[in-house]
Amino acid sequence: MKKIRTKTNWIKEHLSDAYVQKAQQDGYRSRAAYKFLQIHEQYKLIKPNHRIVDLGSAPGSWSQAISSLLSEEGKIYAIDLLPMDPVKKTTFIQGDFRDEVILNDLEKMIENKPVDLVISDMAPNISGNKVRDQAMINDLNELTLEFAQDWLKPKGNFLVKTFMGSGFDEFVKKLKNHFSKVIIKKPDSSRDRSAELFLIGLEKL
Ligand SMILES: C[S@@+](CC[C@H](N)C(=O)[O-])C[C@H]1O[C@@H](n2cnc3c(N)ncnc32)[C@H](O)[C@@H]1O
Repeated sequence: MKKIRTKTNWIKEHLSDAYVQKAQQDGYRSRAAYKFLQIHEQYKLIKPNHRIVDLGSAPGSWSQAISSLLSEEGKIYAIDLLPMDPVKKTTFIQGDFRDEVILNDLEKMIENKPVDLVISDMAPNISGNKVRDQAMINDLNELTLEFAQDWLKPKGNFLVKTFMGSGFDEFVKKLKNHFSKVIIKKPDSSRDRSAELFLIGLEKL
């Protein structure tokens, strides 16, 4: 009985969520588009000619939102464990970002040339075990930062999703060694009940 009530409430919340409706109207594949757009509105992460790596890109709403901000020169390189329908100005590979082979494919895809922005909305499948889930997101974020160290241009920007929990403060501290400014952001479109937060690193040192 309790389970059914929880599910019903979730569906109600989901359907009445203004951002779900807005995403349908605006043609975005998910409400997540507004998380990126709200962050971009404030911090101006994208310029029309930018080359961007989008990690954890499926179903593709961040790529959709970004592609409409790019000129003909701009390009998105996207990767996800899951398949993703095509998005304009976007090249996609399906695979696990933690896998060496996939990382090599991604490096080939960006033609071994530094990029202007690295973003990650990757989230592990939540197991319910908080320690394990936090360790998994921390691991993904460390690898994302490593990728940015290797492939982000000096003065390039960085955006990564994380969760408040063990390892959070240490990761923020680490980011401060690599970027001129580090911002912790919870966009309005991120649900209050979600523990997700976004970390923005401006101007790679
Ligand atoms: C919240 S969704 C991303 C939503 C996306 N930003 C959008 O706007 O459509 C998180 C994605 O991260 C992907 N993901 C999680 N772990 C990953 C990994 N190790 N490698 C690649 N993708 C991963 C999941 O498959 C999932 O599609």
